[in-house]
Amino acid sequence: MKSHSGRGSQMSRQKENNMKIVAGNWKMFKTIEEARTYFAELASATPPQADKVRVIVFPNYIALGALAETGSVPAWVLLGAQDVAAEVEGAFTGEVSPAMIRSTGATHVLIGHSERRHIIGESTVLLHRKLVNSLEASLIPVLCVGETLEERNAGKIEEVVFGQLDTALSDVRLSDGAQLIVAYEPVWAIGTGVNATNEQIEQAHHLIREHLKQLLGTAIGGSVAILYGGSVKPANFASIAGLPSVDGGLIGGASLKPSAFAELIEIAEQV
Ligand code: 13P
Repeated sequence: MKSHSGRGSQMSRQKENNMKIVAGNWKMFKTIEEARTYFAELASATPPQADKVRVIVFPNYIALGALAETGSVPAWVLLGAQDVAAEVEGAFTGEVSPAMIRSTGATHVLIGHSERRHIIGESTVLLHRKLVNSLEASLIPVLCVGETLEERNAGKIEEVVFGQLDTALSDVRLSDGAQLIVAYEPVWAIGTGVNATNEQIEQAHHLIREHLKQLLGTAIGGSVAILYGGSVKPANFASIAGLPSVDGGLIGGASLKPSAFAELIEIAEQV
């Protein structure tokens, strides 16, 4: 926890003052050594203004634990886990609990990333338990939603995305919109080099915003940050992050190089 003290205050009010969130999802990349080298390089970037940009990096569990120990992460970077167990504790071989994640100093957790839904086969019911238990452990869930190309072509965006939100957030009561982040990641745009158009992003984000208001109430649902993810890179981020409905980006490939990630942070600061 050495390097993470003082970060708690950064966790609240993420949507205030047009704050943008730049989140890097490393997926299954980077050893401990590579993760340390990454942050040593990122540390030389100019820190973003705290009231303009919030930076969150999601390393793998192994690197996450090691980074907490060494204090090598710049103080302006929050850390998160890419997944979490659906249970609190017990005989669940291979799983990592919300409290264990919290004990590294991590503040956020990805829930329902499309690779976990579609490749690992995680069910919506499982994701709901992950979300509830993460909130209970004071982790901020970044709930990922999004449709496949087939679903989009069949006109099922609302059915799919609303269904994902409904199940994950069923019976969830938040006292503050900052307790949750939603990431809209159309499956067909992830790792493909084909990002959604600005119109497609705006349309989906508006639908999600209205649905969040219905589910969580106007004030809370209106203040949950909604990120876009899917083939974000420095070349397209200014136009995406500048959209009124977009509160930031969840970035895979382009977050793996500290120079590109630093560029994305800089862009978010300027939009
Ligand atoms: P890419 O930025 O590599 O398309 O990945 C997006 C993503 O899945 C982030 O969670």
